[in-house]
Amino acid sequence: MKKDSKSHLLNHSQAKVRLLSEYLKRYLNIICNDGYTREVQVYDLFCGEGTYANGGEGSPLLILRQIKDMHFANPAKRRFIPPVNCYFNDLDAKKVEKVKTSIAAKSLHYPDFGSIDFSTEDYQSRLTQLLERFSSLRSHKKKAFVFVDPYEYKHISGSQIAELMASGCVEVLLWLPTQFMYRFASNGTPEALKDFILELIPDFSDQSFDDVWSFIKRIRDGFQNLLGDNFFVDTFTIQKDPSTVFCLFFFTSHILGFQKMLEAKWDIDTEQGKGWHYQEDQLSFLSQYKTNPLELELEEFIKEKPRSNVEMYRFTLNRGFLPRHTNEVLRNWQKKLRINLEPPSGAKPRKGAFYIAYEYYKDNQTKLIFSLP
Ligand SMILES: C[S@@+](CC[C@H](N)C(=O)[O-])C[C@H]1O[C@@H](n2cnc3c(N)ncnc32)[C@H](O)[C@@H]1O
Repeated sequence: MKKDSKSHLLNHSQAKVRLLSEYLKRYLNIICNDGYTREVQVYDLFCGEGTYANGGEGSPLLILRQIKDMHFANPAKRRFIPPVNCYFNDLDAKKVEKVKTSIAAKSLHYPDFGSIDFSTEDYQSRLTQLLERFSSLRSHKKKAFVFVDPYEYKHISGSQIAELMASGCVEVLLWLPTQFMYRFASNGTPEALKDFILELIPDFSDQSFDDVWSFIKRIRDGFQNLLGDNFFVDTFTIQKDPSTVFCLFFFTSHILGFQKMLEAKWDIDTEQGKGWHYQEDQLSFLSQYKTNPLELELEEFIKEKPRSNVEMYRFTLNRGFLPRHTNEVLRNWQKKLRINLEPPSGAKPRKGAFYIAYEYYKDNQTKLIFSLP
């Protein structure tokens, strides 16, 4: 790795911490307003130095900014905000000292927000302590978020992530240098990487990936298999240059947390012009109806059998889309009479209302059945 990527916050790292920030904003807003959670713990296990030579801010400062913003956003409506306790760790003690100095210089933390703990331990030993601590989160109504941002993959394994997630109260955001891993994986694999890959992709053999994108997809599917259907796994790829792709992996057991991560991703993608494009009446050269990937997948899904709004919500998120995207497709289909909607009560459905939202999902409320004419 070149020196400048360690002393400067480069663009791809900026994109990484941007996603962390955007997600934390949404996560803290939900958790701190759920009327249930008594404490939130945020762990940054490879926290780095806080401020970079070019002035860029790294993960610990951005985490604290989100906590501060949440407290200052609505001072008039003073309500109970549970303590958000932060734990910053990095093997390099000098970096941790720099983080402390920056936090003080930028006034990013007040004791009312929660505590801050600094450590300079090896990731592995920190992890062992966390696993013990996490086993009692649920009974104490606590939640945790863990950011894992190593330089290398050798610290990471699928089963560690599964252990971290086991309590059902933890979310993990993991950065993996997928491009370096992929290059090795397709060209003589070092032992440490082989162990990592074989756990996630048991039928792996050297040369078994077409490109870095298929490598990332296999890793994602491997995590999903390891964790099972009660967990959600998502990826956010960042392309540094045409031949270098990095990837963040996000893990949660809570579907609303999953939706919030997807919202953060879509917001960033839209800013970069990569977002959602769905023009209902767009015609292609051959004057055929132009579809987008979600539209095709929804059609297949409903073709298989009639689906409820609850099933449609989960399906939409599992495909990496948001309820508003599915609503757009459905509105168009409704206009073109390409979909049948039936409320279980037999009442006439309200036009444009599709009930694809967490509030119906969480209570398993079937309000509509969707089928193809
Ligand atoms: C990619 S940087 C972290 C960047 C930081 N998250 C940010 O946003 O600025 C990885 C960090 O891991 C630290 N590190 C390396 N090996 C470690 C280990 N075994 N345990 C904990 N930290 C380690 C390095 O000192 C380095 O600061």
